[in-house]
Amino acid sequence: MQASLEALLCTLSQEEFFTYYKNGEPFALHNLEGPLSELVELPFLNSFDNLIKFWPDSVNAYLPGINDEVNSQQVKKETARELFKEGKGLFFDDPNRFNEVIDKWLKAIHRDLGLSELTYSRSLIYAIAKDQGTSTHFDQNINFVLQISGTKKWWLAKNEMVTNPMSRYTIGADMEPELESYLEGDIPKGMPRNATEIELKPGSLLFLPRGVWHKTIATSDAISLNFTFTAPTWIDLLTSFLRAKLAQSPSWRGTADFVNDPSRSLESIDQFDLLLSELKENINQLSAQDILGATEYIPR
Ligand SMILES: [Fe+2]
Repeated sequence: MQASLEALLCTLSQEEFFTYYKNGEPFALHNLEGPLSELVELPFLNSFDNLIKFWPDSVNAYLPGINDEVNSQQVKKETARELFKEGKGLFFDDPNRFNEVIDKWLKAIHRDLGLSELTYSRSLIYAIAKDQGTSTHFDQNINFVLQISGTKKWWLAKNEMVTNPMSRYTIGADMEPELESYLEGDIPKGMPRNATEIELKPGSLLFLPRGVWHKTIATSDAISLNFTFTAPTWIDLLTSFLRAKLAQSPSWRGTADFVNDPSRSLESIDQFDLLLSELKENINQLSAQDILGATEYIPR
């Protein structure tokens, strides 16, 4: 089967999809097990036992406490089997390393979203025992969730605390200082009251944009396949371009000497100002095409 974003979304047009995408609005489609049979019917995903038998690597298991990847540990697959029986949630990193079909879809979605070459594309399998789930959090990535087996309830809510977060955050866990520096609203105590509830069944596809609050509970033992994309921001594109450019200059590569030496700090300020004045002249001539031309496809 030809893998593409269009094929993944089946009934939803590209135009409708990109409206949701640009507005950062989640949506779910259902009954896609026929059109997406290539993924939904992958033999190693049709039962937890087959998944464990097939899986050639270690597995991540949620630890007691917050059900979140910040509170997880890598275990051998034999241990993971026991933990799942005890009701622990598991996730399996990057199955595209071991399966060509998943790899093909991961690459196709990346391509059709038109994301930067610098994007971190990741596939993940979640195996969540009945009545387990993930704690309330948001992610920095763009996420497509395909429910393979079992059923899972999701609660989704708009993020009033921050727009375009550059890192993930789980309520109750530590927050990255950078994220804390640009919060626009209060940190909620739990899932916002106006959250939308949806249930994913085998063949359901959820699109989860960056930053949307979510939590889940599996209503039966459940396996899902995720495709996530952490794309660079404009900040990332500019700073990596500047770094690459400035790295060509012996002066910019110089050690930032004496910045904490009271008797010599004026000397270091003068030196740094000189570098900045050269940079300002060069930045005036900088265009988006110059920056994008370093890594991306751009029409000429
Ligand atoms: Fe998440």
